[in-house]
Amino acid sequence: MGTNDISILAIESSCDETSASVILNGKVLNNIVATQSVHEKYGGVVPELASRAHQENLIPVILEAISSSGISKDKFSAVAFTRGPGLMGSLLVGVSFAKAFAYAQKIPLIEVNHMQAHVLAHFIEDPKPSFPFICLTVSGGHTQLVLVKDHLEMEVIGETQDDAVGEAFDKTAKLLGLPYPGGPLIDKYAAQGNPRAFQFPITRMPALNYSFSGIKTAVLYFLRDQLKVNPQFIEENLPDLCASIQYSLIEMLLIKLKEAVNQYGLKEIAIAGGVSANSGLRNTLKELAAKKGWNLYVPKFEYCTDNAAMIAMAAHYKYQKGEFSSMDVTPLAKMKI
Ligand code: KG4
Ligand code: ZN
Repeated sequence: MGTNDISILAIESSCDETSASVILNGKVLNNIVATQSVHEKYGGVVPELASRAHQENLIPVILEAISSSGISKDKFSAVAFTRGPGLMGSLLVGVSFAKAFAYAQKIPLIEVNHMQAHVLAHFIEDPKPSFPFICLTVSGGHTQLVLVKDHLEMEVIGETQDDAVGEAFDKTAKLLGLPYPGGPLIDKYAAQGNPRAFQFPITRMPALNYSFSGIKTAVLYFLRDQLKVNPQFIEENLPDLCASIQYSLIEMLLIKLKEAVNQYGLKEIAIAGGVSANSGLRNTLKELAAKKGWNLYVPKFEYCTDNAAMIAMAAHYKYQKGEFSSMDVTPLAKMKI
């Protein structure tokens, strides 16, 4: 390690993934992720259990990231953590470790905005989008259209006013009797179903905003009525139900993305967050991009779901600009980009 090298240890603990990553001179060396399976049987993330699991997993995950990086623990230039948005109890575990490490090693502390980091996942590997670009960030907690002007200069131009799209996938999956997280299962069954078999609402919000709470209620009442007539309705129609729900969700996402692209006149389009793993969304987007002449960027799956590599990437840019946090920094459950 030379004196000009920038090496950062980064931590992500905002929701139910405990993750650590080491970045050296802008190159991510590793990305260690411990996924919490404790929530599966509850049908969603239980905040109290999430913070306890972070407490158990954090040190082993960090030790693995440090040892596999080959960098001695007293040679880091800085330590970074997710300040928000996220679950307060989960965030506290990461920020407390980062402060203690910064204090012990006498190195700067860097706070990272989780939503900015999802966008910056696009800079971990090639091909990288060029500025300005539009990023559709779709996860279990967020649905945002972001105008990205530079690495650390972003503007939210549209977002959901209620549920996130991942939440809509998971909640409708739960109504179909599928375990948490149901998004990947809807994706799997949808591949064998007819997206036009049933019609679920396509909610259109003003401006570039989204609303995903209506579809959950629509599916709930639809299933209630059908099950009265045929108790086997779900089993007999699962692929068609999944395909039809997924169709509505993708339509809603793409209507506003197309509007945003027209409004800003851009051709550089990116997608980020856990829901970008959805094969229906990926395929539809690829076709749309080819038709419209967009350059489409989709990160590797491990950088779409919550991970510390994206936190490390964001921290690298902040380090270069000298943007450090003071020791009395506190996590924020809600945090704007
Ligand atoms: O980004 P992420 O790992 O965590 C949050 O920050 O929320 O996203 C998790 C979300 C969950 O709602 C999960 O159901 C959804 O991403 N998801 C999917 C797929 N894979 C993950 N949704 C639909 N299709 C998928 N293949
Ligand atoms: Zn996330």
